[in-house]
Amino acid sequence: MSGLFITFEGVEGCGKSTQVRLLVDALEAAGHSVHVTREPGGTPIGEDIRSILLSPANKVMCKEAEILLYAAARAQHVAEVIRPKMAEGTIVISDRYADATAAYQGAARGFSPEQLAAVHKLATNDLQPDATILIDVPVAKGLARVLQRSIDEGRRGYDRLEAEALEFHEAVQAAYLKLAKANPKRIHVMDGMQSIDDIHQQIMAVILPLCGTK
Ligand code: TMP
Repeated sequence: MSGLFITFEGVEGCGKSTQVRLLVDALEAAGHSVHVTREPGGTPIGEDIRSILLSPANKVMCKEAEILLYAAARAQHVAEVIRPKMAEGTIVISDRYADATAAYQGAARGFSPEQLAAVHKLATNDLQPDATILIDVPVAKGLARVLQRSIDEGRRGYDRLEAEALEFHEAVQAAYLKLAKANPKRIHVMDGMQSIDDIHQQIMAVILPLCGTK
């Protein structure tokens, strides 16, 4: 038996965490076994790496250290959580995965497709999601949501990646849309400016037919 692997992607503040939660609740209510996780993170080692990657104090981090830390967190995640859970027949839902490396470190930091492919192969042995939901919102809108959320939660503002310039985030968004065009069967683009419930219904229409097919 092999479970499903579903990932969520999008620019900062696109609303993917809300949609992950709604999808998990709906699938569990329908009787499926679901494991929700995130990247960077999802394991104790990955969560430690996440703190290093996102800390605004680590502004000096070079892009080579950055991509390798994301890859290290992913390697541990795949080995410790994603493959074992899938082998049990569980549906694994991850808030971000390798498309984020292609968009952020590839398009925005300038790593080549060959470098990305080598890192992906080493970290995951080429594990691809069965389906990816890409939630598309205007970059400025997403960043405004992130800032508001951090004020509401009493934090100080943007993390290290969120604090990048608008052009960086525009490059990330363009890369995500290009990836979706190149992988139309796997990556499903949702208009993130619709209501939360409308987006959820559209996600259910994509995911439900996949459940029970593997
Ligand atoms: P999150 O805030 O959505 O959890 O994502 C953490 C940040 O890390 C976000 O700015 C996107 C970035 N990121 C990368 O740059 N490369 C990656 O491979 C992943 C998984 C995330």
